[in-house]
Formats: sequence, structure tokens, C-alpha cells
Amino acid sequence: MMIKLLTVIGARPQIIKAAALSRAIRNSFTDRLQEIILHTGQHYDRNMSQVFFDELEIPHPDFNLNVGSGAHGQQTALMIKGIEEHICKVKPQFIILYGDTNSTLAGAVAASKAGVDVVHIEAGLRSFNKRMPEEVNRIVCDHVSTLLFTPTIAGYQNLLREGFSDNNSQPFNIDNPGLFHCGDIMYDNSLYFTTLAEKKSDILKKHNLQPQEFVLVTIHRDLNTDNPIRLTAIFETLNKLAYSYKIDFILPLHPRTAKMINELLAKELIAQITKNRYIKIIQPVSFLEMIMLEKAARMIITDSGGVQKEAYFFKKPSIILRPETEWIEIVENKVGILANADPEKIENAFLNFMKSGNLDFPPLFGDGKAAEFICNLLIETYQFKIKSNS
Ligand code: UD1
Ligand code: UDP
Repeated sequence: MMIKLLTVIGARPQIIKAAALSRAIRNSFTDRLQEIILHTGQHYDRNMSQVFFDELEIPHPDFNLNVGSGAHGQQTALMIKGIEEHICKVKPQFIILYGDTNSTLAGAVAASKAGVDVVHIEAGLRSFNKRMPEEVNRIVCDHVSTLLFTPTIAGYQNLLREGFSDNNSQPFNIDNPGLFHCGDIMYDNSLYFTTLAEKKSDILKKHNLQPQEFVLVTIHRDLNTDNPIRLTAIFETLNKLAYSYKIDFILPLHPRTAKMINELLAKELIAQITKNRYIKIIQPVSFLEMIMLEKAARMIITDSGGVQKEAYFFKKPSIILRPETEWIEIVENKVGILANADPEKIENAFLNFMKSGNLDFPPLFGDGKAAEFICNLLIETYQFKIKSNS
């Protein structure tokens, strides 16, 4: 019995997440699980996509829709059309979707209409802010899924509050979905790739960074990049902190942010940032390089979901440039501070973390074996399905 999985990826964090499941399949399940990878082409620059396939042992995608960038509706529509065509060709038993991007939404719509069971990895997360595009994507995906794998207990509880039942039993289907709290697949990856990163990456040397003596910053959410007031407040604050405290700030910038800096920031501010020798703006880095930066940073300032968590995995405090977060445990443990785009809050959080000594990072994200757990559940679910149809 071979079970066909159609994995849909498109954006950088999904490619990284897919590495964990692909690895588990390759290591232990090749006799039962066959993975076919479809890349929507949502991210396409080499350092936003191909670099991860080269570095993280992910099989080359079987299909690429090459949809590229565009307005949400147009981009998602092209993806739905392409995914539907490939579902008809491949006839998978499950479609595997990660997170909350437009690629996730497109996969959820195409598969549920085609009657293919949706498996949502990173289910249940909520910001309770529906103006955030990702919130709508993740709610839709959860509500058409057959198997929902939550990375945190908070995620599991969110699903229960939305009416999902934890009493459902096999055979699972779209109307009788199975919920599982299995830990975070990104944690699997962080554990697995850290040793490799230490061997392979020389990023600290390349940028002349000393461990514990720099701050890592990532910014890419539309909330920040597309709003001139927020973007200006963030960059003015980073510029001020770097000058005042004479500590390096390294920013591997998402292409969206790089573009919007030029469009939205005042020329004088851009000139000040460019002159500031403590601010190092670089291209997006590979995952192994990112791990090295996260491990060595003094603290991390970010609006990324993945980077907030990796900060926690590597026991680094984080300043979150958002009004809310899906990863509430990080804030509850006082190692992450929600600073929005408020200069005073960012500076206070920065000072707080510069001073604070031993912070506590109790384990929250599982045992690093989420991918194996998911593979076993896929096999079990399929076996029940066959039995119930025979
Ligand atoms: C997307 C996801 C977001 C996720 C992020 C991860 C949605 C709605 N958003 O946001 O949830 O956190 O990916 O990084 O799906 N661009 C390039 N080269 C690329 C890709 C993008 O230049 O390879 C630029 C284009 O100008 C594009 C812009 O970035 O218009 C935004 O890209 P898009 O994929 O629409 O959204 P992200 O901001 O990357
Ligand atoms: N990442 C990376 N290089 C970078 C920035 C981020 O490899 O230059 C990785 C990061 O380590 C994490 C993932 O990309 O695993 C997070 O993706 P992103 O911040 O783009 O999206 P989000 O997690 O917010 O959806």
C-alpha cells in the first residue's frame, strides 16, 4: 500500500517546514508514503526559495506553478486553478498544507472542492485579528481539514473554542476531523540543522559579528512594510538604538521590505541608516545562516512568526513588532515583548533585555519528533479509510 501525498509549498517558511516531513518520510516511511511536491511559485527569488532546496535536502519540486507576486485575489486564484489541475493528475490521498499563506489557502480550497483530505500542519493558531491576511487563510484551512496538527496547546484550545471536537475518532474526514497536538515541526528542524549550521556557516565572520554582541532584526509583515508611519517609526528607533548603544544590528531584509524602504522612508532617514556603521542591511540569508545568527544574537527584533519561535528555541529574548501574536506562550513567559511599532515600547523592551540576566525558556514546542508523529497518523488514517470503504 503506497499513500500519495501532495505537498503544497510556496513561501519561504513553508519550504523550510516541508524539509522536516520530507526527511521523516525519507528516513522511515518510503515503503508507505510517496511525497509529490508542488511549489506554487509564490516566492521565487533564489534566496527566498531555491537556496532552501539546495541546503536542506528537500526533493526538487515535481511541479512549479510559477504564479509569482500579485494582488491577493489574483495570486490565490491562479494557485487554486493550478493546484486543482495537479490534483486531477496526481490523485493524491492527502494534500499537505503548512501555515497560513495564500499558498495554504489555495491548497485548502482546491483540495476540499476536489474531495481530497486536507492535512493542516501548524493548525489552530489565531491572532484574533481578521484584518491580517494570514488569519483568514488559517481559519479557512482549519475548517476544511481532515487532520489538524497543532504546534502548541494554545492552538489546540483555539480549535476547541471554534467548535472542533476532541472526541472524534477514526475514520476521520472533513466533517469528522481529527485534532492532534504534536509539537512544532520547526522545532524538529532547528534541532536537526543546528550541528550542520555550525559546520557550514561562516556568516558571523563574514559580517564581522561577535557572539552576544549584536541584535538580529527581521521585518516583512504588510502591517509594517506598507504603512509609512509604522515603517518610519521602526527604522528611526533601530537607527537611534544602534547609535546610542553602539551595538550592531543585522537585518537580512525580505525583498518586500527592501522595496518599501525605498518607496516610503524619507531620503534623510535612508541616508542616516546608510551612514550608521552599526546597522548592517543584507540580503535574505539561508536557513543555516539564519540559525547561526539566531544562536549568536544578543536578542531578536522581529515581526515574523517563525523567527519569534526560533528565538525561543535558541533561548533568545524577542521584541515583537506587532500588536498581537499567535505564539502567546512566548509573551506569557516574559521572553517576548509585544512592542507593536511604538518607539517607546521598542526602546523599553530593548533596555529590559539588555539588562536581564537568566531568562527562563520552559519547553513548549514538543520533542522534535512532530514529523514522525504526523507520518504515523497519515498511515493510520488511510488504513481506517480503506477499511471503512471496503
Ligand atoms: C508571505 C505570506 C506571509 C509570510 C511570508 C513569509 C501571504 C498572504 N503572506 O508574505 O504570511 O509570513 O510570505 O516570508 O501569503 N517578493 C520578491 N521576491 C520573492 C517573493 C516576494 O521580490 O521571491 C516581493 C514582491 O514585491 C511581492 C512582495 O515581496 O509583491 C510580497 O510577497 P508575497 O508572497 O505576496 O507576500 P509576503 O510578504 O512574502
Ligand atoms: N529565514 C531565513 N532567512 C532569512 C529570514 C528568515 O532562512 O533571511 C527563515 C527563518 O529562520 C524561519 C523562516 O524563514 O525559519 C521564517 O519565515 P518568514 O519570517 O519569512 O515568515 P513567517 O514565519 O513570518 O511566516
